[in-house]
Amino acid sequence: MSWYDDQMEADLYLINQQLDQYLSMQGEEYDKVTEAMRYAVMNAGKRLRPVLTIEFCRINGGNIHYAIPFACALEMIHCYSLIHDDLPCMDDDDLRRGMPSCHKVYGEAMALLAGDGLLTKAFEVTAKSPLAEEFPALAVRCMAELAFYAGNDGMIGGQVIDLSLEQNDSVFAGLLHKMYNLKTAALIKAACKMGAIIAGANVDQIFLAEEYGEKLGLSFQVIDDILDVTGTEEQLGKPIGSDQKNQKATYVSLSGIDESKQLADFYTNKALELISNYEDSDFLKKLTKDLLERQN
Ligand code: IPE
Ligand code: IPE
Ligand code: MG
Ligand code: MG
Ligand code: MG
Repeated sequence: MSWYDDQMEADLYLINQQLDQYLSMQGEEYDKVTEAMRYAVMNAGKRLRPVLTIEFCRINGGNIHYAIPFACALEMIHCYSLIHDDLPCMDDDDLRRGMPSCHKVYGEAMALLAGDGLLTKAFEVTAKSPLAEEFPALAVRCMAELAFYAGNDGMIGGQVIDLSLEQNDSVFAGLLHKMYNLKTAALIKAACKMGAIIAGANVDQIFLAEEYGEKLGLSFQVIDDILDVTGTEEQLGKPIGSDQKNQKATYVSLSGIDESKQLADFYTNKALELISNYEDSDFLKKLTKDLLERQN
């Protein structure tokens, strides 16, 4: 295995182990909801966002031990967004991470509650984290970023634009850019920014992390939309053709696959330029490039 695979494996181990602990079953009457939360989290997710939080902490000279709870909190928020995104009232998709979507197994009401539970748990674990004990000002700052980027001015706002553009012919590139920036780049920005904040980075470094997260996030969603057309269900672990089924507005529907690929290239190159500012950016560079070529 390469140094890159070694580091990725080590980070994934820390993330998964901590998530497993945070989401342990307590033998309560209401365990069903914890089971549904676990089902949506403890599976084959790529863990991109928590890996970014850890890496941005590391390259800014921080102790990653402080970053793990925030990385896990962000993954919980991401998983909640996926549970709700798949509900019949949203994208109505039955497959997620290669398994039946949460609502297909636990029903809509329990899936809704599992999402609510994950969002709430995210703030519990950050408030009880070692960073909150030892450096409360930094923890509060991260929690504010997390709340902002997950909320109505972040991911939720992007999902609202996404829904408003279903079956809508008056779509223009500027609005798509805003939608991608909010529904997807927002949580990726939060990932990078929190890592830098936890490491005690200065304003310029925090801004750099945010800028990188934005470019990577934009590229990431364009590729997600391309894969919805060109991918296979086996590789993606989610239904293909979901966007067309829901008459979603995407760069692919607006400009086609080729132009969308060029756009993903463009944002990826911007992201790579930004991280060339770091001395030790080999891991991030490879991650950024791999995401452009990803098949899932
Ligand atoms: C899927 O995110 C939703 C988007 C924002 C495109 P990921 O592609 O990171 O999904 P998982 O976490 O690996 O399942
Ligand atoms: C999802 O965008 C973004 C979220 C905030 C969940 P998509 O609806 O395209 O994500 P997938 O393709 O279902 O993963
Ligand atoms: Mg969606
Ligand atoms: Mg979807
Ligand atoms: Mg998609």
